[in-house]
Amino acid sequence: MNRFQTIEQLQGYISAVKSTGKKVAFVPTMGALHPGHASLIARAREVCDEAVVSIFVNPTQFNNREDFEAYPLTLKADLEMAEKAGATTIFTPTVDELYGGNLAVVPVDYGRLTSSYEGERRKGHFDGVVAVVRKLFAAVDADRAFFGEKDLQQLAVIRRLARDEFTHLEIIGCPLIREQDGLAMSSRNARLIGKARQDALVLHSWLKHVKDTACAQGDICASLRAIESEASKMEGVELEYIDVVDASTFEPLICGSAEKKAFAIVAAQVGGVRLIDNFALACS
Ligand code: PAJ
Repeated sequence: MNRFQTIEQLQGYISAVKSTGKKVAFVPTMGALHPGHASLIARAREVCDEAVVSIFVNPTQFNNREDFEAYPLTLKADLEMAEKAGATTIFTPTVDELYGGNLAVVPVDYGRLTSSYEGERRKGHFDGVVAVVRKLFAAVDADRAFFGEKDLQQLAVIRRLARDEFTHLEIIGCPLIREQDGLAMSSRNARLIGKARQDALVLHSWLKHVKDTACAQGDICASLRAIESEASKMEGVELEYIDVVDASTFEPLICGSAEKKAFAIVAAQVGGVRLIDNFALACS
């Protein structure tokens, strides 16, 4: 497995690979890799000869300094997991290499996509995500880039970025990977201590409840309101939002419907750790 730290080295390598007719896949990450990330890398390698994985904790997408400073750094284990999953190249730039000393980012306005839900709760978050992904896309020059449905709104934002600025690049959404008990895998789960780990399961059970209601043609609106009311009585859990949206526009679906792109989405703080999750409502 190759490892590059500068854009110049990476680009030299990628253009040599592409000149042989090989397809290049790209999986951007912030490290602290878990099987959710590994599934993206494995998928990337399945469909392309070359799978480039970036590991870069992006300072501009954290709206709170402690969250950035608490972000786990596990490079040695990450390199092993990435290689096992099929990565052929790792890109680990420094902050200076990507930002050249200027951490000011341009605000991004994709309407509701960037202003609602995560965009509303984490002001400036998508500005930082778009800024770094734009730099990474330009550096890697891949044919396909892989993103998890775990971050459903981020995926929609990135699709829009590619549509506007990287038209040759195909964006591939990959399924959300869960722990056996249903908790969505996340680098932040390591911070769920004791009771909080158990409490965190409530996000998955709420989403399942919304889906079951949708599939039974029940009143989704009433089910969302009942969940909000239940959450308000729970200790250690602070619900930020639960709703049903169209996964490509993030327009709310007037309390939901079981149409194809309808997803129930949720964000909550559990034991002080912010978690997000989602569930497709399409009934099989
Ligand atoms: P990070 O949180 O490290 O996630 C990297 C990729 O892994 C994202 O596409 C994310 O959706 C995916 N992922 C995380 N957990 C997953 C799970 N349980 N199942 C499936 N996929 C999962 O997302 C970021 O980093 C950053 O915002 C980034 C795009 C790298 C820009 O800095």
